[in-house]
Amino acid sequence: MAGVQCSVTSHQSNSEEGSRRPSPPASRPSPPSLIYRPCSYVDRLDLPDLFALAQPLEVELGSGDGSFLAEYARTHPDHNFLGVERLLGRLRKLDRKGLRLGLSNLRLIRLEASYLVDYLLPANSVRAVHVYFPDPWPKRRHEKHRLITPRFVETVRLALEPRGRIYFRTDSPEYFEQIAEVFAANPAYQAIGTPGSLTALLTDFERDFQARGIHTLHAAFERMEGA
Ligand SMILES: C[S@@+](CC[C@H](N)C(=O)[O-])C[C@H]1O[C@@H](n2cnc3c(N)ncnc32)[C@H](O)[C@@H]1O
Repeated sequence: MAGVQCSVTSHQSNSEEGSRRPSPPASRPSPPSLIYRPCSYVDRLDLPDLFALAQPLEVELGSGDGSFLAEYARTHPDHNFLGVERLLGRLRKLDRKGLRLGLSNLRLIRLEASYLVDYLLPANSVRAVHVYFPDPWPKRRHEKHRLITPRFVETVRLALEPRGRIYFRTDSPEYFEQIAEVFAANPAYQAIGTPGSLTALLTDFERDFQARGIHTLHAAFERMEGA
């Protein structure tokens, strides 16, 4: 993979606590990691720099501890996967899972999801986006913090390939309703079903909701050809 020395981080560089640690001596090799650090935050990602093979790209926004993404990437070696998560501790858990499984089609990035979609994903580059149990911000006055907004839906459209898809799951009926409304208001999308094989693969939060008897809701939308 080209550009490794610039892009794929060792674990020493960005701690959740913000503490600064000295760089390791030049002679000590960095531990292997799937966490990717872009050389630039103003240029779009150079996908061939991230992945060994040119394959369709799927992105999970808010991947959490990452059981879903690790398993999905393992069972779909013919696609590339990018996990996006702002909490370093969770990203590191997924990093360890991916390394244990020897996944060469998985990369991770620590970033605010909407920034990645707005500024880093190349146009027409993504086959599928997965957003599972985004923080619901249930109080009305906190709605502005939600990830899914009309602006987000439009910027995702630019990143998706024609006929690219976005898949959602949530335990919040209010958020589910808002998601349906913002997609219905954008003429570029049509609502579609979620394939059973995808529904069958649970996320970490979903497993917990199911164990507590909490009902979860699924939705999916496709960017229409030519839209
Ligand atoms: C409720 S958890 C769900 C995690 C995982 N998708 C699952 O279903 O198990 C939401 C995750 O999204 C992350 N997250 C929330 N908003 C985010 C954002 N704007 N950018 C990046 N990550 C975000 C949180 O840190 C958290 O790990």
